[in-house]
Amino acid sequence: MKKMIDLKLKEKTFAKSSISILNDFTLTITSGEKIAIVGESGAGKSSLLNIIGLVDRHYSGQYRLFGMDAAKLNDDQRAKWRNERIGFILQNQALLNSFSLEDNIKLPLLYVSKETKKAKEVWFRQLVETLGIESLLKKKPFKCSGGERARAALARGLIMQPQLVLADEPTASLDDKNKDIMMELLFKLNQINNMTLITVTHDLAIAQRHDCVITIER
Ligand SMILES: Nc1ncnc2c1ncn2[C@@H]1O[C@H](COP(=O)(O)OP(=O)(O)O)[C@@H](O)[C@H]1O
Ligand SMILES: [Mg+2]
Repeated sequence: MKKMIDLKLKEKTFAKSSISILNDFTLTITSGEKIAIVGESGAGKSSLLNIIGLVDRHYSGQYRLFGMDAAKLNDDQRAKWRNERIGFILQNQALLNSFSLEDNIKLPLLYVSKETKKAKEVWFRQLVETLGIESLLKKKPFKCSGGERARAALARGLIMQPQLVLADEPTASLDDKNKDIMMELLFKLNQINNMTLITVTHDLAIAQRHDCVITIER
């Protein structure tokens, strides 16, 4: 099985702060695995996802992603991978209020070729149908409910059919129905497309549906 993530952190610190987190934290993930990350607030779960997702490169340690040394990636490569190979799903994902839901979901397509754009159109239709938001596509986010916005943010995270999905408390503050819709889709894509899934969650029932649960301690 191919290693997708091979992370050996010494620590993560922040400028102008004495906080040190993720001390000697190591993580190896194989392509197609689904991993839950739990741990109390402030433990460093979101910081970890930022490192894994190439958002943050200020840490000490070694990190290999998709077989490459992350430290050796230039800005263009990082941006390209973040757009095309990594899907971020955040709890309060900022959808742009001046754009329709459709345009929000299709934002990542602004940076790809015409051919890719066209190829993703079929997937876009399937996604919005699966998520039950096809009748809302012309609406602006501020006119949608929290559950509708969360489903649109999920669609945006998945529109590029990423190999790796990083979900940071994706179901927090959602009702059971929306929770189920979200997690069922993520688990289905994990199973059918071998999409690697890392889910940060406080919901133990959701955590236990992953292949393994990793606890981050302060
Ligand atoms: N930009 C930052 N500057 C300083 N400290 C930060 C910053 N981001 C996070 N932290 C601190 O790092 C720790 C871990 O934060 P975070 O990764 O958000 O935890 P979690 O997601 O587990 O709640 C917390 O103590 C938090 O205050
Ligand atoms: Mg967090």
